[in-house]
Formats: sequence, C-alpha cells, structure tokens
Amino acid sequence: MKLIRIQRYLSEQGLASRREAASWIAAGYISLNGQKVTDTGAKMVLGADTLKIDKKASAAPKYYFLFNKPLGIVTVNAQKGEREIKDIVKLPKGVVPVGRLDKDTGGLIFLTNDGVAARRIMDPAFYHEKEYEVTLYKPVSDKALLTLEQGVYILGQKTRPAKTKRLSGYKFLLTITEGKNRQVRRMCEAIGCPVRLLLRKRILNFHLGQLCPGQLKELSNNEKTVLFKTLGIDR
Ligand code: URA
Repeated sequence: MKLIRIQRYLSEQGLASRREAASWIAAGYISLNGQKVTDTGAKMVLGADTLKIDKKASAAPKYYFLFNKPLGIVTVNAQKGEREIKDIVKLPKGVVPVGRLDKDTGGLIFLTNDGVAARRIMDPAFYHEKEYEVTLYKPVSDKALLTLEQGVYILGQKTRPAKTKRLSGYKFLLTITEGKNRQVRRMCEAIGCPVRLLLRKRILNFHLGQLCPGQLKELSNNEKTVLFKTLGIDR
C-alpha cells in the first residue's frame, strides 16, 4: 500500500501545481472516496482511493503574459531597497513569474497563474529552448563559442549541448535547454569571458520582439493555442 499526499499526487499527475492543489483543498474542491478533503496534508492510497476534483477548481480564469523585465528589478522576493516585478506592473491576483532572471539580467519572462503551464515551461526534462543575447567585456573566439556549444563544467556538471550565433566580436546569441542558477554567466566564466550584459530574447517560440523594458503583453488566443500545443497541455 503506497500512501501519497493528495497535493503531491495532483502535481505529479500534472493536474495542478503544489500551491494550486493546496488552494483547491482549502477551497473544498477535492473529495476522497466521496468525502470532502479539508486538510492540505491529507494522504491517499495510490491505486485504491478515488479522488474527485470539482469542476469549479479549474474554472478560475487563467492569465498568460509576456513581460520585459528591466535591469535592476528582482524577479521575486525583493529585499530592502529593491523592487520586484509585481511592484512595477499591475497583475491579476495569483499571477507570478515563471522561473527567474537575475537582477542584472533583462528581457523576456512569462507571468501566469497557470501552475501546470509554468511547471512545463521550467522543467528541463522538456528541453524547452531559452535564447539569450550575451555581451562580453572582450571579443570571443570561434573556438570558445564551440566550447560553449559542446558543454562546459558548471556546478560540478557538464552543460547540455547549446547553440550559439555570433552577432559581433563581443556579442552572440546563446540558446540553452536547461536553467541552472546563473547558468549563462557561469558558462561564460568557464570560458574565461565574464558577461557584461545579459538579455533574454526568446522562450520556446515566444520572442521579446518590440516589447519595451517594463512592458506587459497578454497572450492572444492564437498565442495561447500555440503555447498549449508546444507544452503538450490540454486547456
Ligand atoms: N543565466 C544567467 O546567468 N542569468 C539569468 O538571469 C538567466 C540565465
């Protein structure tokens, strides 16, 4: 008999994020063998217990935004004297950034209250591409770019194969499919070229385009369809 927390089960099945699952339980949307569950720590027996999710749980409107994070703004958890994304842009309740950009990195970030989509975008198992425009303090050689493509050791592990495209002597695009802490900066340090400026230009097939720093854009219905298809989720 395998006991599992209901919250964990819902998130592992891709039905909700942990946070979303907890709020569903708290709101009384989950029942176990016909009994409403009220304890967010409640467990179920895998394969034996029957879980039901009230339709109302997924009825809350979902929002999907692209945002151009300005340099100097933290993504979340602002400390004294700092400002975070939600301090500079008005967002519907529950909409949060998907992943993080460093305070000194600018560019594209998704904002949503759809926990499942957020998890899919971030999960390295899906190999979703993120493209960065990297400016260095000094010119970079073709050999160094090739090294980045083949993978370098950061945080005790080799990075996955990446793509590069030279834009000038000092500047190039780097496309990666994982998101380790300060990954691009660490990769560039590994080839002896510290980063001067880092901007994220693309996530999946969504481009920064003409979005100005601090500007928010809600996805159109067509864009949402593309997003769900790319992520392989049913909405
Ligand atoms: N890689 C970094 O080093 N920083 C970021 O903000 C994003 C990717």
